[in-house]
Amino acid sequence: MAEADSALWARAVEVLRENDLGGWTKAAPSLYPHQWSWDSAFIAIGLAHLSVERAADELRSLFRAQWATGMIPHIVFNPNVPPGAYFPDAARWNCQALTDAAPRDVATSGICQPPVHAIAAWRIVEAGGDAAWAKECFPRLVAWHRYLLTARDPERSGLVTIYHPWESGMDNSPRWDAVMDRIVVGDLPPYERADLKHVADPSQRPTAAEYDRYLWLVEWLKRAHYDDAVVQRDYPFLVKDVFFSAILVAANAALTALGQMAGVGEDELAEIDEWTTRGRAGLTSAWRDNAQGALDIDVNNGGPIDVKTMAAFAPLIAGGLDMDRRDAQMRRWDGPDGLGDERLRGPVPPSTSPRDPGFQPRRYWRGPTWPVMNWLFWWALRRDGASQAAAALREAGLDQVRAVGFAEYVEPFTGVPLGSLDQSWTAAVVLDWLAAADA
Ligand code: SER
Repeated sequence: MAEADSALWARAVEVLRENDLGGWTKAAPSLYPHQWSWDSAFIAIGLAHLSVERAADELRSLFRAQWATGMIPHIVFNPNVPPGAYFPDAARWNCQALTDAAPRDVATSGICQPPVHAIAAWRIVEAGGDAAWAKECFPRLVAWHRYLLTARDPERSGLVTIYHPWESGMDNSPRWDAVMDRIVVGDLPPYERADLKHVADPSQRPTAAEYDRYLWLVEWLKRAHYDDAVVQRDYPFLVKDVFFSAILVAANAALTALGQMAGVGEDELAEIDEWTTRGRAGLTSAWRDNAQGALDIDVNNGGPIDVKTMAAFAPLIAGGLDMDRRDAQMRRWDGPDGLGDERLRGPVPPSTSPRDPGFQPRRYWRGPTWPVMNWLFWWALRRDGASQAAAALREAGLDQVRAVGFAEYVEPFTGVPLGSLDQSWTAAVVLDWLAAADA
């Protein structure tokens, strides 16, 4: 490894060590002091290069918080965080009092996040994990995927229904604007935002109106006792999220590999195959030629959500595309909604296209580039043999981190680091990128 890369590696290791709370890693030093579900999956991918056992522990600590439904919750709360440091806290979610499905010995939120976990579990195998690990994690991951394919897709559409922008992981993306605008906030218990205590510039975070709606949806879920069937009967935010669904398709491939290693029966493997087929069919149904990709579907009115964001690249993440659709996705990738806007500081994809009316270059998921997404697209391109595009993205992703450090997200034109600094998943993906160079 070149000397500069060794220094970057050492710094990434340091970031992860500093955020390590013993068997699990907080997502960021102060803005996110708990364990986040998809953050931890990406973190495990990085940790796998340092210690296979420690990486497995990262996922184990999430599995311990798995609900009886199979859901892996989006936050596992750290009991040692002082009151007021993060909101909404465990008391606001109040899951243990409201549903028997929530675990008893650890407090969690009542929603989930994209299922990157099987991909991480397989990365642990690739880094030296053994069949015992595959056997251990497989049943947990099957239960998780089965939850998403049943409770979250009773229509068997192949697309997962999400209940909250937080479930997408892309909280304030313009993807959710139309649905969120329709939500009338009722009698909302008072609250104080904690995020703005950690990120001084509010223009980098979601707005007050968005937060009111986020919290209103939580109240609604609480009234439904977090029961999927009840939620889906009458609820203002029900969206078939194509990006979430695509990650599930990609994760099913990893699940198959884990199942084979664990020596599970043909029936179980056939069921996962069927999930993959269904997921691909769902993404095909969400394909829109004008978007050169897939668009989310608003369940309450059945229509596509026509915005220009990186979620349109969902089929690329899922893989298995026919030649025409793959070409269309790559044209989009190189075009003005992908890497083609000449104002971009470097060839990494903005979370929202600068051509979308909802684009805001500093505000969280409305425009900034996200190092962890650069990694995810790199991973998918490389998996499917697009080696040149993958190599270019890895280089650009590493360049960005070299220039701005381990920021949560980055202004796409100026390269200014935004949000939290020393973000765990940014450090983790850097380790995976650097390790890949050695491979
Ligand atoms: N991303 C959310 C936050 O900003 C929660 O998942 O707190």
